[in-house]
Amino acid sequence: MIGFQRDGTTLFCDGVPLDRIASAEGTPLYVYSAATIAARYQAIDAAFAGCPHSIHYALKANSTLAIARLLRGLGSNADANSSGEIDVAMRAGFTPPQIVFTGVGKTPAELEHAIALGVRSINIESPGEIARVNAISAARATRTKIAIRVNPDVDARTHPHISTGLKTNKFGIPISDVPDICRHAQFMDGVQIVGLHAHIGSQITDLAPLANAARALVTLASELRGAGTTIEHLDVGGGLGVSYDGRPVPGAAEYAAAVLPILRESGLTIVLEPGRHIIAPAGALLTRVIDVKQAEADRFFVVMDAGMTELIRPMLYNAFHRIEPLVKSNAPLVSCDVVGPLCESSDTLGKDRMLPKPEAGELYAVLDTGAYGSVMASNYNRRLLPAEVLVEDGQWRVIRRRQTLEDVLALEL
Ligand SMILES: Cc1ncc(COP(=O)(O)O)c(C=O)c1O
Repeated sequence: MIGFQRDGTTLFCDGVPLDRIASAEGTPLYVYSAATIAARYQAIDAAFAGCPHSIHYALKANSTLAIARLLRGLGSNADANSSGEIDVAMRAGFTPPQIVFTGVGKTPAELEHAIALGVRSINIESPGEIARVNAISAARATRTKIAIRVNPDVDARTHPHISTGLKTNKFGIPISDVPDICRHAQFMDGVQIVGLHAHIGSQITDLAPLANAARALVTLASELRGAGTTIEHLDVGGGLGVSYDGRPVPGAAEYAAAVLPILRESGLTIVLEPGRHIIAPAGALLTRVIDVKQAEADRFFVVMDAGMTELIRPMLYNAFHRIEPLVKSNAPLVSCDVVGPLCESSDTLGKDRMLPKPEAGELYAVLDTGAYGSVMASNYNRRLLPAEVLVEDGQWRVIRRRQTLEDVLALEL
């Protein structure tokens, strides 16, 4: 039994009952399924098998060391979005040529770091950034490989906060400006253009925008090569979505079927930067009911020990996550607002959920929270970051211990 599945009344992760893990390790607690991570990584790899490709797992989705190591063991490379993520990638065993460095505002220190290491490519966001990379590289008498992040002005048709490919978004270089910029960059000693990059957004479930972005990259690559620029790879970013509510969405095979015929025309290596698609369904946030308060005759507030500090997606993006009891009771179904314990009205994990009338002390899972969950957790209200557990081969182990107040106060003078 792979992933989060119910057998009878009990919810399991890779065959291990989740209530046993929660009782042993406490809540709030993130639990990950190693088998799900492997299956989802391998599905992408298999879908692109017909074309030279490399998968650079987007660490921003979840960069806990054990998760990064697991993905490296599966053959993945890494996409890092900051110096911190570069260093985490290195600690997880990735080598610099296995890392691409993205990010809309890389500081000079971050660029120095990536250039000194010799990462596979720096995904460039602006003409100013090319000049900075060129200057740093020239001073070090080195030539840095860069890919131009193109803003193709394609609407990803996802939540506006995770849409990145429109000209109104801050990301990348407008596609019409790229040929001129490349012509200029060819004469710089400190940079070597090796690729084009586009990432148009996240949680994309409509494949047409991804195909449009792929088409834009292929057309641009052909134009640039005609003008003498050597291009080795096309980096199509991440973005492929998952089903949060159980309705069917395209998977890796459908994604590949939509973009590969276009990308193959280029004859170039394809770089992919998936995050959410691999890791979201591989994680669940376990939480315990603190209190049940009657809101109206037939509606309840269920106050959990996890809230926006552990999982901010529902508040930040109005995101939906399934919320289920770890052990289902026979209590009658009632309408519940599942809320966190923080001093914010927006601290709500799920509204109007029909649940078997919850009782204080019961355990619940907030599902599909492996991506952009623990990485976005905070210490607001002086709450402590939750522990994380990985289930692998029928066993579980803590991969990040629960934070203590001493950990937090250690920074304060
Ligand atoms: C440049 C880049 N690549 C990859 C990703 C990963 O996206 P996702 O988790 O949707 O696959 C992101 C996240 O937004 C990103 O900004």
